[in-house]
Amino acid sequence: MSRCSIRVFDTPHLAAAAAGDKFMEGVSEFGSRLAGLAAGRTMQPVYDHLVSTEARSNGLFSETAFAQLDEVLSNSRTVPSFANEIDSYLLSRLSGRYRSFLIIDGQASRPDLEAKRHRAAILKSGGLGVQLLGIGVNGHVGFNEPGCRSDSLCRVTDLAKSTVERNGYPLRTGAITLGIGDIMSAQRIIMVATGAVKSPAIAAMIEGPQSGACPASLLRAHADMELFLDQAAAKDLS
Ligand code: GLP
Repeated sequence: MSRCSIRVFDTPHLAAAAAGDKFMEGVSEFGSRLAGLAAGRTMQPVYDHLVSTEARSNGLFSETAFAQLDEVLSNSRTVPSFANEIDSYLLSRLSGRYRSFLIIDGQASRPDLEAKRHRAAILKSGGLGVQLLGIGVNGHVGFNEPGCRSDSLCRVTDLAKSTVERNGYPLRTGAITLGIGDIMSAQRIIMVATGAVKSPAIAAMIEGPQSGACPASLLRAHADMELFLDQAAAKDLS
């Protein structure tokens, strides 16, 4: 059983726009808390929607403090950082600016300490209000890969082989991610999934056992979670 509310749209664009609207509602509702941002291809149309809405409503995010969900660990420029991706798809395009962005340093010399620092910075800033999330084809959320614990916190983690391959990372690439426990502490979770490639993960998340084998299924226990899908991502739901 899932408590999560599911909305299915005819196109990826419509799903992204509705998720973006819900995110903005959350930003205004939980204004004293952080707004959590994810990277990934799915987020790009969501960010386009936020940018175009913000252009029409001056200063929509001028008081908003954002926080990063996860980051790839890399000392090379061959792996683009998620922080830069979020900046170029969203933050640098906001005409009315924003208050701050708590980022994860993917080049930190002590990634373990960087993970602890990021979590402490989030708590110090009041915790997460609304958290935007994608989902991996293996059901990962952030970089919480299959086998993760429901009480996991922000930490350094290895990536699943399928994640490394799908994202074209060098072998043994690691990451820092907010844990399932951190994500569950958000007041509201908004997840977006589009395309047939995500449909098995969505079916496992909603209809499979609630277990670390499908990390996204652990979020079903959240009291305020909404899932925005296109028809293709919803096709394996019964
Ligand atoms: C990536 C990241 C997540 C992202 C998810 C979906 O690997 N860890 O932050 O939300 O997987 O990515 P995409 O939207 O590119 O499929």
